[in-house]
Amino acid sequence: MPRTITIAGNWKMNKTATEAAELAKGIVQNVGRQTEVSVVVCPPFTALQTVAGEIANSSVRLGAQNVSDKPSGAYTGEVSVAMLRDLHVTHVILGHSERREYYGETDAIVNRKTLVALENALIPIVCVGETLAQREAGEEFAVIGRQIRDGLAGISPAQFEKVIIAYEPVWAIGTGKTATPAQAQDVHAFIRKELAALQGAEQARKTRILYGGSMKPDNAAALLSEADIDGGLIGGAALKVADFTALVEAGRAAAASKA
Ligand code: 13P
Repeated sequence: MPRTITIAGNWKMNKTATEAAELAKGIVQNVGRQTEVSVVVCPPFTALQTVAGEIANSSVRLGAQNVSDKPSGAYTGEVSVAMLRDLHVTHVILGHSERREYYGETDAIVNRKTLVALENALIPIVCVGETLAQREAGEEFAVIGRQIRDGLAGISPAQFEKVIIAYEPVWAIGTGKTATPAQAQDVHAFIRKELAALQGAEQARKTRILYGGSMKPDNAAALLSEADIDGGLIGGAALKVADFTALVEAGRAAAASKA
């Protein structure tokens, strides 16, 4: 069984609920019927409910961009898994480099959130990736290996079936600089090896590993044709209906050629 190609849009801190409804409507119109590619949209918290309404009865799934590691209570400003589940959220992005860099998220925090998501039937999209300085120092594999081992510690084999990994080189995010298909494939193959060490080769073979970092309609086909690249986590290009549609179409072409 080939791995299902997944195209996920990370809208980051963009789109009011009103704007988000428009974007979701356009996406549903263009790709809301197809089922070859798993399509996920991750609007900000404030737009989840509106977008849930727009994508109901389509094949598009709903993701959040973060979740609390606490179940409920006196945690001002936090959002719980139960709150997300209640809005029909199925996926959650965890450990994005922007959260690591600006909000101090460590691998230990990412690990707690990943476990909480899995215990509550949310699919975590766990992000890993090196900075430019780390790549220039030749440390990318050490950094990513640690993020994988520490971020994914203590997950049962049954839970691991649900985990999605996203490799996002920090130097490629929002910069217009994409990792070359070969550079990305090298890291994806390394991640799959690390997953095999953690969970066994059979499980590692089944785990989806997405690429993120300036993925655009004009470079998606080449990235998605690589053996270990199973989809994309898209920032900027996920904010325009036409671009996101083209990325899903590239995913469908890749799915057909990998089948
Ligand atoms: P860009 O596609 O804008 O580079 O963002 C990638 C990203 O961070 C997705 O999570």
